[in-house]
Amino acid sequence: MGARKIIIDTDPGQDDAVAILLALASPEAIDLLGITVVAGNVPLALTSINARKVCELANRPDVQVFDGCDRPMAHSLVTAEHVHGKTGLNGPDLPSPSMQVQETHAVDYIIHTLRREPPNSVTLCPLGPLTNIATALQKAPDIADRIQEIVLMGGAYFEVGNITPAAEFNIYVDPEAAQIVFQCGAPLTVMPLDVTHKALVTKPRNDAFRALGTPVGVAVAEMTDFFERFDREKYGSDGAPLHDPCVTAYLIRPELFSGRKINVEIETQSDLTRGMTVADWWRVTDRPANALFMGDLDADGFFALLADRLGRL
Ligand code: RIB
Ligand code: CA
Repeated sequence: MGARKIIIDTDPGQDDAVAILLALASPEAIDLLGITVVAGNVPLALTSINARKVCELANRPDVQVFDGCDRPMAHSLVTAEHVHGKTGLNGPDLPSPSMQVQETHAVDYIIHTLRREPPNSVTLCPLGPLTNIATALQKAPDIADRIQEIVLMGGAYFEVGNITPAAEFNIYVDPEAAQIVFQCGAPLTVMPLDVTHKALVTKPRNDAFRALGTPVGVAVAEMTDFFERFDREKYGSDGAPLHDPCVTAYLIRPELFSGRKINVEIETQSDLTRGMTVADWWRVTDRPANALFMGDLDADGFFALLADRLGRL
C-alpha cells in the first residue's frame, strides 16, 4: 500500500510539533498534503508561526501551511499557555519562520482537497480543537462521505479530564465542533487521554531524543523537557504525555494501539460537564458505534519508532 495522503490540523504545541515531525520523517507511510492551523494551545497567530517553525526545523519550507479559525464555534477561546508556555512552543529557541502562510483559508483548503482527491483517499488528522474540521463539514456537507478516516487526539473516559474534571482540552475548547465531527459519519479513530497518558516521555526516552545529536533531536528533547514540568507537578507522572504523536504513529504502525469500536457522544449543554466524551465503553446502550476509541499502546514500541524516525531528519 502506498503512502497515506493526510492533512494535519493542529494547534502547536510541543506535542503537535513532534507529531508533525514524525509525519515528515515517514514519507513511505505518510504523504502530508498540507497543514491547517487552528486556535487552541495558543492563539491562531502563534499556532501559525509555530507550525512553520516546525516545518523549517525539519528543513521542509515547502510544506503548505494554511491559517484557519481563530476562535471556537460557540464559546470564547480557552488557551493553554500554562502547559505550553507563552509562545506555545517553549523549550527550544527556534528562529522565526521565513516561509509564508498560504493565501487560502484552512477550511477552504480542506474542502477543496477532499473534493479534488479521489473519494476516501484523504485522512484528516486533527491534533487540536475541531473548529476547522467542523466548519468545513458545515460549509460543505458533501465532504463527509469523501473522508477516508478522521484520526484525532482528543477526549478522555477512564482517564477523565485535563482541563476540567470532565473534559480533555481539545474537546472542551470547542464541544460544538466536536459534536459535528463525532456525528458526521466518517470513519473515526480517537486517541483519548486514556492512551496518551501511557505515552510518557521518561528521562531515558528523552535522553534518547537528545542523543540523536541532531537539531531535531535536541529540539524535541528541549520541547518535552519544558512540556513535562506541568504534568510532573499535576499528575506526579514520570514524564510528559506525548499526546498528538499517537495520531501519526497510528498511521505508521497501527498495531502499537488497541481500543474498542463504541459509541462516543459529546456533552455540549452543561457548564459542569461541557466537552466530556461520553464513551459507551461497556456498550450499555444501543447507540451506534461511531468511533474506534483507543485505550492502550505499546509505549516502548511507540518511543522506539519515534527515536528511529526523528533520527532521519
Ligand atoms: O489535551 C491534550 C491536547 O490538547 C493536545 O493536543 C495538546 O497539544 C493540546 O492541544
Ligand atoms: Ca494539540
